This record gives sequence, structure tokens and C-alpha cells, in this order.
Amino acid sequence: MLSYDSAVPNGQDSPSSGPLPVPSAKPMSTSAAGTIATSGHGQVQRQHQHHLWLVTGPAGCGKTTVAEHLANALSIPYIEGDLYHPQANIDKMSGGIPLTDSDRWDWLTELRKQSNSRINSGADGVVVACSALKLKYRDVIRVAAYYDRTLLVHFIFLHAPQELLLKRVAERKGHYMGANMVKSQFDILERPREDEVDVITIDASQDSDEVKQDALEKVQAALAANM
Ligand SMILES: Nc1ncnc2c1ncn2[C@@H]1O[C@H](COP(=O)(O)OP(=O)(O)OP(=O)(O)O)[C@@H](O)[C@H]1O
Ligand SMILES: [Mg+2]
Repeated sequence: MLSYDSAVPNGQDSPSSGPLPVPSAKPMSTSAAGTIATSGHGQVQRQHQHHLWLVTGPAGCGKTTVAEHLANALSIPYIEGDLYHPQANIDKMSGGIPLTDSDRWDWLTELRKQSNSRINSGADGVVVACSALKLKYRDVIRVAAYYDRTLLVHFIFLHAPQELLLKRVAERKGHYMGANMVKSQFDILERPREDEVDVITIDASQDSDEVKQDALEKVQAALAANM
């Protein structure tokens, strides 16, 4: 069972259990111009907005393909979520054993920490390929905006039928994620709910170039609207 960790500054965190961090009392809101923060002296300061783009969906939906394209097109760093799994998780997945919630906990908090760290180091935004199959996994990532109030978190959900993804993964070579992982991921997939307004849904059954273009256009539209 996942739980939220306690608040630690600068995105540094530990996997201890505890309640969702309580947001700072400092008045702050977002507008078309960016985040507006009120200083202790009542002065209004506009802060440059940053964006975290999570490319999500089950095995084989095209996360890596789309995330690389977005990062190149937007000239921002890209984090391949697969590279941050502990060896124990990779061993499980290679053996066709589905990961549990607790297997994913440290992985998700590490991806969040890495994302905050890229922004802290000066990047305007960051793209992360991460399946984020369940609402509570997405919520773990959403906490990144608690650590950095200039950060807007977005999920790009790549949606395609299971049979199509089975075919794609079966044809892919040199990846530890076997075709049997597609079914187990669909079994636990919680499609984004209507009230998850930070989710952009893309039809990933289109051909690769169409999916990439569709995702980029929707990201650029969100950037133009600064939302
Ligand atoms: N829209 C598409 N149409 C056809 N093939 C695609 C499409 N998108 C990706 N592929 C191919 O399908 C396979 C899976 O794509 P990719 O590795 O990007 O998916 P993924 O979601 O990152 O998978 P995983 O969850 O296993 O990391 C790759 O061989 C890729 O070249
Ligand atoms: Mg991938």
C-alpha cells in the first residue's frame, strides 16, 4: 500500500509513511502570466512557470518514443523512467512477474526527485517516461508541485487497445519488458478520471509520426495557455 512521504525541502525525500504534506500558508495562485506569489511585505512577484510532462500508459504504448520526441522538440531534459528501477524490479519484470505497489514506491519518489532536481538545476521543463498506471502513482508525482510552486505537472496518457500493444511489444527486441507484462499492466490500469484535469489523452493507435505530432501540438497548446 502506498502512502505519501513527509515534506522535506528541495525535493529530497525518504520513503517514510505519513500524511500528504500540507501546502505552505504562503498565498499563491496561478494565472495566464505564471505563478503569483505574495512576499512577506505584500509585494506581488511573478515567477517563471516550469512544466513537468509525464508520458504515461501501459507497456508498449509508445512512452519512450513520444517522450524523446517531446524532449527534443522542446529542448528540455528527458528522464527515461525504466532506467530508475532498482535491479530487483528489473529482475521481476524480466521474469514476467508484475510489480506490486510497494515495488513501485521508491521508483516513483526517485523519478519525482529527479524531476525536481532537473528544474532546480535550471531546466525550463522536463519530460519523464513513466507508466503511472494508477491514480495513486500519479498523485505521488503530483507532489512535485508541492516542492516547487513554479511547477505545473501534466500527464500525457497514451491510449491504445491491449491487442495492439501486445503486438508491438512482441515485435520489440532487446527490452526486458515482455509481452506478458502488457496484460498485467492493463489489469491494474486506472484510466485517468474526468476530474484529473492535468491529463492530456492521445490516441496511441495512430502511426508513430501522428502520435508524436498530436502529443507535441497538445503540449504546445497547453504551454500557450500556460496551464
Ligand atoms: N505509434 C506507433 N505505431 C507503431 N509502433 C510504435 C508506435 N509507437 C511506438 N512504436 C513501437 O512500439 C514499440 C514500443 O514503443 P516504446 O518503447 O516507445 O513504448 P513504451 O511505452 O516506452 O514501452 P515500455 O513500457 O515497455 O517502456 C517500439 O518498438 C516502438 O518502436
Ligand atoms: Mg519505454
